[in-house]
Amino acid sequence: MARISVEPRRFSLARRALFRTVESACRLAGGRAFYRSRYLSAGRFWIRREEVLIPGLAAQLDGYTLAQLSDFHGGPFLRASDLTDALDRVAALAPQAIVLTGDFATHRPEEALEIAPAFVRLRAPGGVYAVFGNHDYKWRREAEIALALERAGVRMLRNAHFSPAPGLVIAGIEDLEEGKPSDLDAALAGAPADATKVLLSHHPDGLTHAAERGIALVLSGHTHGGQVLLPILRSLGPRHPGDRVQHGATTLLVSHGVGAIGLPLRVGTRAEALLVTLRRG
Ligand SMILES: [Fe+2]
Ligand SMILES: [Fe+2]
Repeated sequence: MARISVEPRRFSLARRALFRTVESACRLAGGRAFYRSRYLSAGRFWIRREEVLIPGLAAQLDGYTLAQLSDFHGGPFLRASDLTDALDRVAALAPQAIVLTGDFATHRPEEALEIAPAFVRLRAPGGVYAVFGNHDYKWRREAEIALALERAGVRMLRNAHFSPAPGLVIAGIEDLEEGKPSDLDAALAGAPADATKVLLSHHPDGLTHAAERGIALVLSGHTHGGQVLLPILRSLGPRHPGDRVQHGATTLLVSHGVGAIGLPLRVGTRAEALLVTLRRG
């Protein structure tokens, strides 16, 4: 059984109170409108293009495109209507499949439920898939969020997989910090051995386990690209392993995400979607 986990970061009460105070002040000062116009509006939202060489990729999958969006963080700085430009931009890229790698909420499940209907804007011939991030398990109401996303046409991959095209498997695991159990064996059970496998893992630390299982590509988020890349504030966010990491034959791509937490601000990183093209290596 490949149950994997990472110890969650827990902040002290004092530090959490400080975060909440700063967040409330930013919200009252118009942080949401600022974030939308500065990072999510047409022309500001970044499309990052990546090509991944995969040995043994089936000939008919050469050139297959996947779009990835991550870390929406509905809540004080983002609501459903703020996502319109970014989601339409991704849909216009006409990817063959679209994946969402978690953190729909920030503090409360209601935040994820509010943004979920917006994902009807995403349509792809191979389908739209999602996993949860650590923020989505608050009050253990993730089943409600899953239902809302599925109503918007998003297939949840909770330690499960789906084949959007012959020779290709997209697997998803529960979040490594909060979604116990994260079970890679269960996620891959019944998947054809010779299929090219893509793993959705909100937390980038899924990489080493994925490499052991012959997964070609891991798509993660969680780090927000550091979000505020200033020396004093850098320690506020989770460790960012790099945009693209190679571990043996497995490639990890880490999205900088869409939304923000703590401050409605990004420094040294943009809000982005990835457009990934698979190539025969
Ligand atoms: Fe996040
Ligand atoms: Fe996260």
